[in-house]
Amino acid sequence: MQLIKLNATDSTNAYLKELLLTGSLEDFTVVMAHEQLKGRGQMGTSWISDPGKNLTFSVLSKSEGLGVASQFLLNMAVSLAIYDTLLKLQVPDLKIKWPNDIMSGHSKICGILIENILSGQQIQASIIGIGLNVNQLVFSNLPNVSSLKLLLGRTLPLEELLQNIVDNLKVFLKEKINDENYLFSRYEELLFRKDKPSTFKNKEGEMFMGFIKGVSRGGKLLILLEDDIVQEFDLKEV
Ligand code: BTN
Repeated sequence: MQLIKLNATDSTNAYLKELLLTGSLEDFTVVMAHEQLKGRGQMGTSWISDPGKNLTFSVLSKSEGLGVASQFLLNMAVSLAIYDTLLKLQVPDLKIKWPNDIMSGHSKICGILIENILSGQQIQASIIGIGLNVNQLVFSNLPNVSSLKLLLGRTLPLEELLQNIVDNLKVFLKEKINDENYLFSRYEELLFRKDKPSTFKNKEGEMFMGFIKGVSRGGKLLILLEDDIVQEFDLKEV
């Protein structure tokens, strides 16, 4: 694994993307930062992490012939690769919250931000940004957030954990990505709050009740509504 370690950078995703544009990089090049000054989250949010306590890194994955329509396969493969790494550590009550947050009980422990570089309708490469809360103990003003140390009661070595995640990413992104049925069935089985009554907020800010049933082939969330209709929702809608 080609590992680039930075003391501080705005965002490891932005750094890796810039590096890719200026030259050729090995598949699975990893950029990790002790500290991110402008860590990016999904939907334009920011990712905040205590310097040196957690893993904040980005991995380059070159796709072979993956079409834009299959983007969600990447989300599932990356989520499952991290899930399996954490399962081995015996993190309790692990679930995947659609589209790709890793949860332990009701607390988020890992966020994933995948940025694809396209060439026409094909994904040429993906920058897979991962923020995993490892040894941070205090998350002020952030409800429902936890870390591996809070959950397991011990400090974990960051680089060893990083290596384990990257090894699993290789397996999922090079092999398991070709087995759609496997990815969908495992991902759906591990969905956070599946089949439980849940409240959602739509883009108009209105609350509604429903049951998560799974995901569509395109990766939209399938919610069973009160009138017995299953409707697809994407991230901007729910
Ligand atoms: C989310 O849950 O909103 C996604 C968070 C992704 C955070 C990681 S940290 C490393 C990489 N660099 C970034 O700027 N963001 C991702």
